[in-house]
Amino acid sequence: MESTRNKLISLLAKERDRFISGQALSVALNISRNAVWKHMNELKKDGYQIEAQSNKGYRITGFPEKISENTLQWGLETEWAGRTIIHKEIVNSTQTIAHEAARSNAAHGTAVIADEQIEGKGRMNRDWQSAKDQGLWLSLILRPEIQPQQAPQLTLLTATVLADVLSLYTETAPMIKWPNDILLNEKKCAGILTEMQAEQDQIKYIIIGIGLNVNQEEKELTATIQNKATSLKAATGKDWSLKELFQTFMSAFEKAYDSYIENGFSEIKSKWESYGFKIGQQIRIKTMNKSWDALFTGISNDGALVIEEEDGNLTTLYSAEIDWLK
Ligand code: BTN
Repeated sequence: MESTRNKLISLLAKERDRFISGQALSVALNISRNAVWKHMNELKKDGYQIEAQSNKGYRITGFPEKISENTLQWGLETEWAGRTIIHKEIVNSTQTIAHEAARSNAAHGTAVIADEQIEGKGRMNRDWQSAKDQGLWLSLILRPEIQPQQAPQLTLLTATVLADVLSLYTETAPMIKWPNDILLNEKKCAGILTEMQAEQDQIKYIIIGIGLNVNQEEKELTATIQNKATSLKAATGKDWSLKELFQTFMSAFEKAYDSYIENGFSEIKSKWESYGFKIGQQIRIKTMNKSWDALFTGISNDGALVIEEEDGNLTTLYSAEIDWLK
């Protein structure tokens, strides 16, 4: 059951800049006007900025930095991305919560976000460190009308959106390391994990998991990954607002997704390639029994790596080990 306090915040948030009278609030919440006034004082203590005018009522003019469904929604300028938000303080993995929500018919664009994950999942069964309040630990539920084999395009799209957000909003120079790691200064700052539920030629839903390291200090990124991982703070020397990053990402994601559904993949592909780490350079590829160098020329429409061999032939690799930092 939603608490009276949360209902009150939602009512005020929905009105945006308009005032709601104490009378209207007391009727909507079925509490006395005095109780409304007491709640307002509690909200102020928690960092909400509330303006009260005797003849007009109340309105919210500022939200606390701490993330919650309400604070993330306040100021979010999207039509569908993040219109439903499921926020949890601590979870095993937002992917698990998102799968459950998707199975219970959660809407396209639902965002599941947590302050902390205790079993954050990375690709290839790796762990994803997700310390409390230090990053964006987010799973997005999508219900695209595309073929299941096109699903990897959405992962590439997400990587380009993240790279755009970092470069425009934080003025850093991100690169995307194939398949979908976001690098700052050649260290990993964000990763994407896509999971899909499909039947033959129909996608039931896709969950795109995004982990963005934001406010960890360099030394908090543990020793084993210290040389490979970074955060926005480590790269820029500044703290960043999770709420603003979330909202900026959601707006950019919605725009890119709608344009992809309308115009197809080609714009995303060229954008991806403009951020592609080592594109146009020699890279070392490793398989079980051999290791060789080739020129990384770009990606295919289905997100595979395209290399030019020494004899000039092009090869498309779907899963490969690359010695990126040789
Ligand atoms: C990778 O690069 O290996 C992908 C990392 C994906 C991490 C995110 S954090 C939010 C979501 N929940 C998870 O458990 N994993 C993804």
